[in-house]
This record gives sequence, C-alpha cells and structure tokens, in this order.
Amino acid sequence: MEDLFKKLVLLKKERNAVILAHFYQDDDIQDVADFMGDSLALAQKAQKTDADVILFCGVHFMAETAKILNPSKTVLIPDIEAGCSLADSAKPDIFREWCKKHSDHKVISYINCSAETKALSDVICTSSNAEKIVNSFPKDQELIFAPDKYLGSYLNKKLNKNMKLWNGSCQVHEIFSEKEIVKLKERHQKSKILAHPECPEAILNRADYIGSTTGIIKFSSQDSSETFIVATEPGVIHQMKKISPKKNFIPAPSTDGCACNICPHMKLNTLEKMVMALETLTPEIKMDENLRLKALKPLQKMLDLS
Ligand code: 13P
Ligand code: SF4
Repeated sequence: MEDLFKKLVLLKKERNAVILAHFYQDDDIQDVADFMGDSLALAQKAQKTDADVILFCGVHFMAETAKILNPSKTVLIPDIEAGCSLADSAKPDIFREWCKKHSDHKVISYINCSAETKALSDVICTSSNAEKIVNSFPKDQELIFAPDKYLGSYLNKKLNKNMKLWNGSCQVHEIFSEKEIVKLKERHQKSKILAHPECPEAILNRADYIGSTTGIIKFSSQDSSETFIVATEPGVIHQMKKISPKKNFIPAPSTDGCACNICPHMKLNTLEKMVMALETLTPEIKMDENLRLKALKPLQKMLDLS
C-alpha cells in the first residue's frame, strides 16, 4: 500500500492532477485524496480546481458532473463501471415522456442522475441544498422531483409540498432495517441515530438527525453523545472516527444481516485502479458538447442558488 501511495504522489505531480473523493470511498482512498466532500462540495471543488487532471473517486454521475462544470479538464474515474442505482432508475427516454405529461411542472432533479436526465431538468439539487432549491420556486408552482422517491417524499412532508415523485431509490439506503435499528437503539439507549435522506420514511422517523454526508459528519463531531448509529453508507465513518476518535460509531444494519449497506458501485474504485488511471489517462469521462451545455444550465442554477 505504501508503494501505491508513493506512486500516486509522483503521478499526481507529473500529471498536475487533483484527487477528489466522496466519503463512501474505501479508507485508503480517503487518506490519499486531496479533497473530500459530499456531492455539493465535490461539484463546487471540481469547478474551481486549476489542476489539468481531475481523478474523481466516486461514482459515474459525480465524475460526469465534474466534466460538465469543467470541460477543459481531463476527468478520470478509476472504474468506469462505478454506477448508481438512483441514476440508473431515470432512463432519459422514459423520463422525458413522463415530464412531457406534466408540462406545466418544473423539474427538480437530484444530482444522482445522468447528464441526459440533468439536461431534461430545470434545476439540480443535492442532499445538502434540496430544501433551499425546492423553496426557491413560487408556492403555486407545480413541481416534479426525481429520481429519489424517498428524498422527494421527505421534502414533501417537511416543506408541506406536493411534488410529483419519480419512482427511484438507492439500493443501499432503502435496505436498512427499522426493526434492527430499534433493537440497536434499545441496546445503546443514549445513542443518536443519524440518517441520510435517501432512507425510507420509517428509518427517517427514527432519526435524531437527517442530512447529507457532510451534515452527518458535522453533527457527530458537535453533538455530545458518545455513540451514534449511522444510517448511511459506512465509508462515512472513517472521517467521523478521525474527527472524534473517542466516540463510538455503529453502522445501521440491513434487512437480512447482509452487507448491503455497502455501496457496491463506490467500492469498485481501488488504489491500483487510481494508479492505472493516472498512468494511462483512462478511463476518461467524455461528453458531447451539446449535451454538456444542456446539463450545465440546471447545474449552474443550483450552484448559483447554493
Ligand atoms: P451526499 O451528497 O450526501 O454525499 O450523498 C451522495 C450519495 O450518493 C448518497 O448516497
Ligand atoms: Fe448511488 Fe446509493 Fe451508491 Fe449513493 S449509495 S452512489 S445513491 S447507489
């Protein structure tokens, strides 16, 4: 591992590259990254970097977002197969037809979607700015929220809205078991439950705090509790432990005790693949300029509102 770290440091210099990584990446990737963040912070960072190459350690829609925002850069992803069940749920052709049926609605798309789906949207949001984005529309404006039905219904309830929801979900967050979480809570009565808003309502109803990955990390660092049950991908616990080494973090269990709370897409990236990517400058994110410009509009609108 030491060797791979050293190789990465040399290659980064050689290529004038920056490594951006999401909190769901393996611990070693987090440790070698130049910048860690949630989807919003990573998009903001990608737009501002002066590196020639962005090595994006996350999933495809995140690297694609970096390319949309920064077309002159070479954007690499360690494993091009690193997808996302939410992004896959909104197939652009079907989504386009659905939106056409509600042509009086404005379309808010969660950033976990393809460039094609972004191009069909009026504005993008992430889990850390979703409330602000929804509230940026006049009260009487009819809205569509896609592709995450759980985040959409959480926002509908919290903001007293009636947005039409696309039927998409995250395969990781929808599998948490309310029953097992309740049992854990009984064993750790003073613990706090932290949940990502991609979780179903039953899990969110049990949560003491609901927020983005950055929000969850921040809450755990500021709250005085000693134990936290974490209902999001457990990669996030690496940063939580770094900030609060004396606190106890328990990953929330999935329905049948499987390891389904680990995002299989995020975990496709490895240090070896990062080295290969910087050596060969592949896999590279490429995009048709016409599509990029269409996807940029709602994305830029989000960044301007954030
Ligand atoms: P955050 O923007 O909160 O980091 O979420 C990204 C994600 O993919 C959650 O599953
Ligand atoms: Fe997509 Fe869920 Fe993985 Fe996040 S955790 S990248 S939403 S599949």
